[in-house]
Amino acid sequence: MKLAASFAFIAVALLLPLAAQSQQEPGRPSQPVQPDPAAESVKMRQGLMAAVRWQFAPIAAFARDRSAELTPELVGRIRFLANLAEIAPQGFVEPSADVEGSNALPAVWEQREEFARLMHNFQAETARLAELAAAGQGNEVRGHFARVAETCSACHETFRREMPR
Ligand code: HEC
Repeated sequence: MKLAASFAFIAVALLLPLAAQSQQEPGRPSQPVQPDPAAESVKMRQGLMAAVRWQFAPIAAFARDRSAELTPELVGRIRFLANLAEIAPQGFVEPSADVEGSNALPAVWEQREEFARLMHNFQAETARLAELAAAGQGNEVRGHFARVAETCSACHETFRREMPR
């Protein structure tokens, strides 16, 4: 009996926010249970790209400063960058250039092969950077960094809208 009552309580607690939502938007069709896959994928890839930049900036600073040391923290960041590149394609599966706020161009889904090729370069060059970093080869990391940076701009040039830097 007690158990049934607490189940009822949980059910009410779960449903209340839904009820509140439909009251806020009278006359509008109720929200679909599944989140919108196009909108979710825009969030995913923008968050992912923000994480890419988060790792990228200190690596760029290291590449510029010849006296900087290749610290374990930096080696970790370079590995995270390569890991992010591994999952980056997941943000571009669902056609979603027309979602408000997205800066992806329709070309992503119209020129799939070219997009995949540039994505592959991004993965290969970041993986190589991670290998050099893991081997403690700081100067080689510096030397290879430009190749990685080029994979970003190569893709943005064709597949991303102009964005303020
Ligand atoms: C294969 C293509 C591709 C590669 C490689 C790539 N990007 Fe992107 N990037 C995009 C696209 C497309 C968008 C726009 C996504 C959107 O708004 O829907 C984007 C968006 C971004 C954004 C904006 C995120 C936001 O907050 O909206 C940043 C920052 C970024 N990329 C950084 C980088 C960096 C740094 C690299 C390289 C280390 C890189 N990208 C590599 C395609 C790529």
